[in-house]
Amino acid sequence: MNAPGSPASPPLLLPPLPYADDGLAPWISKNTLSFHHGKHHRAYVDNLNKLLAGTERADWPLEKVVRAAAGSATDTAVFNNAAQAWNHAFYWKSLRPRGGGIPPAISRLAAGNSVPPLWPNSGAGGPGWWKTAAASKSLKPPTPTRR
Ligand SMILES: [Fe+2]
Repeated sequence: MNAPGSPASPPLLLPPLPYADDGLAPWISKNTLSFHHGKHHRAYVDNLNKLLAGTERADWPLEKVVRAAAGSATDTAVFNNAAQAWNHAFYWKSLRPRGGGIPPAISRLAAGNSVPPLWPNSGAGGPGWWKTAAASKSLKPPTPTRR
């Protein structure tokens, strides 16, 4: 929490896309990218800033907010907005214009032999798949499973 009289903590900021908003066309259109970045991602960041305003968490890094709110029955809104803000930022960093190869964010994860602790421990798209894909230098999509 801010000390009385101290300036307000800077809010979390919407990170810019790491490429032009038409940089992933024709696979992901400018309209779709703009919608998910300019509306979805922005809404999660704005909502989270409102939820955290005036609290000690207002100036925490996003990852710390997600971890602190995870599993808390009283922090559902904070967790949902923080996790979705993180998910969108990670997603943008996992793609690049003209594609091909292992996304930089995945390469960094594999190189460090670590995965985000927020991910599930198994399942298609989980850390096992990402690590395997990064190690094999291939990004074949996981086979969907049905229950
Ligand atoms: Fe989205």
